[in-house]
Amino acid sequence: MISYLDLKQLNAPYDAEIREAIGGVLDAGWYLRGEATRRFERHYAAYIGTRHCVGCANGLDALTLIFRAYIEMGVMAEGDEVIVPANTYIASILAVTENRLRPVLVEPDPDTLQIDERLIEQAVTARTRAVMIVHLYGRCAYTPLIADICRRHHLKLIEDNAQAHGCTYLSPLSSLISPLKTGSLGDAAGHSFYPTKNLGALGDAGAVTTDDEELAQLVSALGNYGSARKYVFDYVGRNSRMDDLQAAVLDVKLRHLEEANAVRREIASIYINKVNNPLIHIPRCDRDSVWHIFPILSPQRDTLRQYLLDHGVETQIHYPIPPHRQQCYPQWHHLSLPITERIHSQELSLPCNQTMTASEADQISTLLNDV
Ligand SMILES: Cc1ncc(COP(=O)(O)O)c(C=O)c1O
Repeated sequence: MISYLDLKQLNAPYDAEIREAIGGVLDAGWYLRGEATRRFERHYAAYIGTRHCVGCANGLDALTLIFRAYIEMGVMAEGDEVIVPANTYIASILAVTENRLRPVLVEPDPDTLQIDERLIEQAVTARTRAVMIVHLYGRCAYTPLIADICRRHHLKLIEDNAQAHGCTYLSPLSSLISPLKTGSLGDAAGHSFYPTKNLGALGDAGAVTTDDEELAQLVSALGNYGSARKYVFDYVGRNSRMDDLQAAVLDVKLRHLEEANAVRREIASIYINKVNNPLIHIPRCDRDSVWHIFPILSPQRDTLRQYLLDHGVETQIHYPIPPHRQQCYPQWHHLSLPITERIHSQELSLPCNQTMTASEADQISTLLNDV
């Protein structure tokens, strides 16, 4: 059986280092927002290439706190609009509605599965305050046109980098200057370290990266009950702390992230080069990807999934129901978003992670060609 993702196997190579890091936290006797968290925040900010990184409890909180901080700064107010991709994980949208802002759903480009840059400007209104791009599946969603639209309309560019740790934006200048990482391309980015992510903790954790000092300080205070100084509460905050055990584990795994992403790229390139079946569409990926997910599209998705399972290959679907069809958002049930709907009905995720061997990827490719 080739499992979709075996977390025990994935973390096994780091076992000794993780145990030592956990021992360090035990010895320190400080478990929340302590030295281990500060160290990880420093290392992660340096890795992403931003001046600040603020740890928090999870990726949803990271995104929610960004919007909340902008509301406190007077940049956004209740009822303002945020342009978001229609095909994303629900958490991207929840972060917007949680703050009583209005998500405006924009269709993806069917070739790349990323928000269609050509449709963004026509969605801008007098109430638009931000564009949120989601580096879905580990692919860079940033384009110079999106940044230009944000600049011209004075919109914040927010990145959901939950799925793309280590992904870079390959610009025409990449050969001259070192490529920029997703999470450093906009005004602020939310990161999730959910265990299955490319950089995954042994539980929940998240972070905000930004160059904006005021925003970083606000996010930090809002995640600490609204307090920047002990027992002084300037905002109605919440409790959203990164714990030191997770930070220590993440610091270990950050050291191995590049090599893990390199294996993912090798597995992905085997699929790209070997799968050749007219019933299966491999979405174009000419931008850099860290292959958090390897998506294929097929009108016979469910049959294909069962066929692979019958041949010992586990797959996943990301995601079976799009946000505008979910029970929690009845106000969008009338919307027709055909590209999003097609992706959600056809997407199948192949196993793609650093525990896999080239021969497993070969085997899966052959199965897909023989179906
Ligand atoms: C695109 C996207 N955004 C946000 C999140 C939320 O992250 P978390 O599960 O850490 O709250 C996730 C992860 O599950 C995600 O995939």
